[in-house]
Amino acid sequence: MHSTTTKSQRGKGVIERYREFLPVSSATPIISLGEGSTPLIYSPRLSERIGCNCEVFVKNEGVNPTGSFKDRGMTVAVSKAIEHGTKALICASTGNTSASAAAYAARAGISCVVVLPAGKIATGKLVQAFAYGAKIVAIDGNFDDALRIVSDLGQTGDFTIVNSINPDRIAGQKTAAFEIVDELGDAPDFHLLPVGNAGNITAYWAGYREYLACERAKKLPSMAGFQAIGAAPIFYDRIIEKPETIASAIRIGNPANWKQARAAIVESHGAIDVVTDQDIVDAQRWLAQHEGIFVEPASAASIAGLFKWFDSSSAAHSFQKIPESSRIVCTVTGHGLKDPDVMIRQLTELKPVAATVADVRRAIEL
Ligand code: F0G
Repeated sequence: MHSTTTKSQRGKGVIERYREFLPVSSATPIISLGEGSTPLIYSPRLSERIGCNCEVFVKNEGVNPTGSFKDRGMTVAVSKAIEHGTKALICASTGNTSASAAAYAARAGISCVVVLPAGKIATGKLVQAFAYGAKIVAIDGNFDDALRIVSDLGQTGDFTIVNSINPDRIAGQKTAAFEIVDELGDAPDFHLLPVGNAGNITAYWAGYREYLACERAKKLPSMAGFQAIGAAPIFYDRIIEKPETIASAIRIGNPANWKQARAAIVESHGAIDVVTDQDIVDAQRWLAQHEGIFVEPASAASIAGLFKWFDSSSAAHSFQKIPESSRIVCTVTGHGLKDPDVMIRQLTELKPVAATVADVRRAIEL
């Protein structure tokens, strides 16, 4: 094992920690909320389920400052925007990008416009954008419509777009791959993650390749992306006009980074696969109850994918004959409290009992 960063750089944000790999200079003002350095959690019960001496780790991106992986990219995108004199940010979002953009804009002292599909944003994320002071515009349309509009508005020069079509976002997000290699001493054998607009899979693959090129890693992982079955344009290889899934963060029918994601999958000898909404709900609950990690539904797609590859013969890839002692990393992208509705629906109504030891004892039923 080797570590490329000193302890003191941890917690100071990804630009401080990985400056040499990022498009920044001494002229770049750093806008950071201390993102990155998220835990890579060894998961004994997931490992046991896969067997073959495999080690499964969960990279918990839900503990970033605004509760999702977007903060890694946002610190770089907003720092560069400020360097270039931007006065306003704009983004389309299924929720997390808008929460992150709004927070970093507030930190930088500039304005932020977020364009969202009306009624399709998890409450926690909408509340975040509002709390951080963003100008929120809801449209009668889906994320793909919002991104089309934002791309046009970005041409006017009045705004900097901070969606993952901005290369500074991808640059920042690749630091998650660096952290994994720094911690494990090499790249894992497999890396599983949810796919929506496909920026994150693009970023991880860039990060792993960069670390290999400068010999901080000796190998590359196979990249495995999971889409919700009703919103799976890359898997089906066609635009989905009306994407549908309870995992609202990845309800996307025409991903901006489609080609790059395909390249990552092909070059890494990985795969793209689909999971059902029920698989997602089950995996979300399983992860919370067996590993103590509560993630939002979209994030549980990587865990649902792990189970599918272990259990199913219809999967795009199978872990039934996985090489002994493989190392598998699953990224979970956002915190469970951002999008609690699915879990709340499973919560049965709590009937109060009398405030006595005897009644509470009886109610415990253990
Ligand atoms: N997981 C979560 C929790 C997300 O919010 C997103 C994307 C993804 C996974 C997929 O990542 O787009 O890089 O493939 N959310 C975007 C947003 C689209 O607007 O917040 P991706």
